[in-house]
Amino acid sequence: MVRGDVGIELGRRVAAALEAALGIELTPAETLIRTSSRRGADYQCNVAMSLGKKLGRAPREVAELIVKHLDSDDLLQGAEVAGAGFINLELSVAWLEGQVTSLTDDDRLGVAPVEVPRRIAIDYSSPNIAKEMHVGHIRSTVIGDSIARLLRFEGHEVIPHNHLGDWGTPFGMLIEYFLAQGGGGEQTISDLDRFYKRARERFDSDADFAELARKRVVLLQGGDEETLTLWRHLVDESTRHFDKVYGLLGIGLTTDDIYGESFYNPYLAQVVTELEEKGLTEISDGAVCVFPTGFTNREGDRLPLIIRKRDGGYGYAITDLATARYWTAERGATDLLYVVGLPQAQHFEMVFAVSRAAGWITDAQHAEHIGFGTVLGEDGKAMKTRSGETVKLADLLAEAVERATAVMAERSDLAPEAQADVARAVGIGAVKYADLSGDRERNYTFEWDRMLATEGNTSVYLQYANARIRSILRKAGREAGGAPVKLDAPAERELALKLVQFPAALASATQTYSPHKMCTYLYETATAFSGFFEHCPILRSEVPEDVRASRLALASLTSDALTLGMSLLGIEAPQQL
Ligand code: ARG
Repeated sequence: MVRGDVGIELGRRVAAALEAALGIELTPAETLIRTSSRRGADYQCNVAMSLGKKLGRAPREVAELIVKHLDSDDLLQGAEVAGAGFINLELSVAWLEGQVTSLTDDDRLGVAPVEVPRRIAIDYSSPNIAKEMHVGHIRSTVIGDSIARLLRFEGHEVIPHNHLGDWGTPFGMLIEYFLAQGGGGEQTISDLDRFYKRARERFDSDADFAELARKRVVLLQGGDEETLTLWRHLVDESTRHFDKVYGLLGIGLTTDDIYGESFYNPYLAQVVTELEEKGLTEISDGAVCVFPTGFTNREGDRLPLIIRKRDGGYGYAITDLATARYWTAERGATDLLYVVGLPQAQHFEMVFAVSRAAGWITDAQHAEHIGFGTVLGEDGKAMKTRSGETVKLADLLAEAVERATAVMAERSDLAPEAQADVARAVGIGAVKYADLSGDRERNYTFEWDRMLATEGNTSVYLQYANARIRSILRKAGREAGGAPVKLDAPAERELALKLVQFPAALASATQTYSPHKMCTYLYETATAFSGFFEHCPILRSEVPEDVRASRLALASLTSDALTLGMSLLGIEAPQQL
């Protein structure tokens, strides 16, 4: 059985052929193997085109040399030169049958654990204290959670850290407002957004209050015990709210994963010292700044990363420098990932540049901002409620479950109690999938009808496909698997081809941190299953026993792929819908 991407295995074979024929050494990836949908080709090799140019030989001639030296009879039916010098590669049915058969009892569906696991610190969710999570935060939370799952499944060590906005100047005003409210109990801040807004209003309209708030910030940053206790109360109330939302979403983040801005406070002075010692800082307008090379505004002025404000206060930027330094130096992270909206792209580029200059991120370490676009309402503008407020995530999720319940009521023959669980899986899954299934950098429009559609690239479609398979397996009355798979019908071969491509789908999703590539794969797999099911009866009495066993094995493997794939997106796959 081949482990990993079949395309890479083909690349190894082509690389060996090139070495034998021309003494040229290429890595498997450099042999430019791509999947193909041409007739008689599952894959296509494009390397002869560029090599021909480089060697001053006709690409067709190079392609023919490769084919002549290709040792791949175990894998391929044939390799044929086409057009100006492409090579069409068709997998052999025997290999596909063997591969699929062995996959039926492989939990990892052909994915080999990475040889050199990395320690990946990933920052996602990261909402702000005393503010309700809104629909924008869903993106960071859902995308980050999926990327963490995908990387963990590959075998990496993944450490999530929730960079809560739990520090800084707003807390002066929040604490004072909390005290003015009587400083008691849950009620005063149970509606976090209202609490924040009222505190802000008071701050803007009442000079005495504003003065108190400013003093309070100084007390907080100076470590005053009473102030810290009040602050902690606000933080705890908020995290309780976040935990509720995480629970609803099925996100694994816990309080142990919280590394809020306040966590880095004790490190900030040292960060300034190190930057100064390395000669990276400048004083500008009384503030300590670093001007990383290559960052200018439209007028050509250099852009600063503000390290310490003129009043001595610290801000968002230095906290992120301390974050990078902490995760590499103290926690040994090899990768720093940040799942944060695209408007912060430049901030992260500058943070990375300064961290590199300071030696906190070395060449062996990888830092990347995983940006994403905005969620739009049906009017094409950033999503708002009818009264113009930001949509709260908790309300949105409740509505998703309600709508899913309505969809299910029409279709499902489950008992009402079972329906409630399934409606949750369907409703929450739909919201998450809508967020994951498009290229993350693009904005997307939040449309209930589209995300809950039972046809098309939706989680509901995948969940139905999977539940349908589970029902066939139940009816067959036994566990499928173990039976040798035979691929006679074209629809069987097509489905098998998709099933052996699970590792490739995973690799392409993790390479660019793009969960949507896994979504596309699952959608194509479910579609291939639907074609197979249409053309290849399974349970009908006239189907011979060995054919039935083979088809049940294929169906069962399809369900495994859908279930595993969805779980890597953080979406449940109920047995019955
Ligand atoms: N709390 C910030 C916000 O809501 C996001 C923090 C992202 N992470 C970071 N390390 N800066 O905009």
